[in-house]
Amino acid sequence: MERRPLLAGNWKMHTTVAEAEELALAIAGTPIPADRDVMVAPPFTALAAVRRIVADSAVLLGAQNVCWEEKGAFTGEISPPMLKDLGCTLVIVGHSERRHVFGESDAMINRRATGALRHGLIPVLCIGETLAERESGQTFQVLELQLLGGLRGIPPAEAERMVIAYEPVWAIGTGKTASVDQAQEVHFFVRGLLAEMYEKNIATQIRILYGGSVNPENIDALMSQDDVDGALVGGAALKAESFRRIINYKR
Ligand code: PGA
Repeated sequence: MERRPLLAGNWKMHTTVAEAEELALAIAGTPIPADRDVMVAPPFTALAAVRRIVADSAVLLGAQNVCWEEKGAFTGEISPPMLKDLGCTLVIVGHSERRHVFGESDAMINRRATGALRHGLIPVLCIGETLAERESGQTFQVLELQLLGGLRGIPPAEAERMVIAYEPVWAIGTGKTASVDQAQEVHFFVRGLLAEMYEKNIATQIRILYGGSVNPENIDALMSQDDVDGALVGGAALKAESFRRIINYKR
């Protein structure tokens, strides 16, 4: 089955509202080929402004994290209904910066993904090994634990709507990209795990994005791999021109 590619921009902790509007305008004005999805995930503070700009375009709005609770005493958190209210359809969970800078565990990330699904948001679940883990031959073991932990208790009908993003920590923001073979090897492994956890026909529907220094120069080669269904882009998504080229990748 054909998976619809997803090109996603993660703006991280960048952009004032004015800067976000400028970037969103440039992206919303870009014609998007009909066979693919495009998402931008601005910081929470710019979601309302970006929504107004992308509302009439094909660009999907995503957030960078979400709480599992609907409301209550959870200072600093944002709930799924709040994101829905702002027009978000997707939300990133388990980004490596959440895991490694803010100490989020697989159990917490699982709660975030589950909470998002409960409210009809599509979680983009990020997994990825550190350099030390790769060098000590633990890559597959680490990814398996993150995937099992992140998807715990999520039934097949929900899992098939999710997006997985493989982001090797050593490739994020470093300018070092995984080789296309390394990316394909891991994506193939992840799809195999999904087939074991669910069923083959579910695994073949789940989109697996690659993330980590994706740029206009390497996007075509990455997208040429069978199991690479899109990209989660940080730095290169902050410049309209480079994100535009990524959106218009050629296989
Ligand atoms: P990068 O970030 O493209 O700047 O490496 C990717 C990400 O962290 O999602």
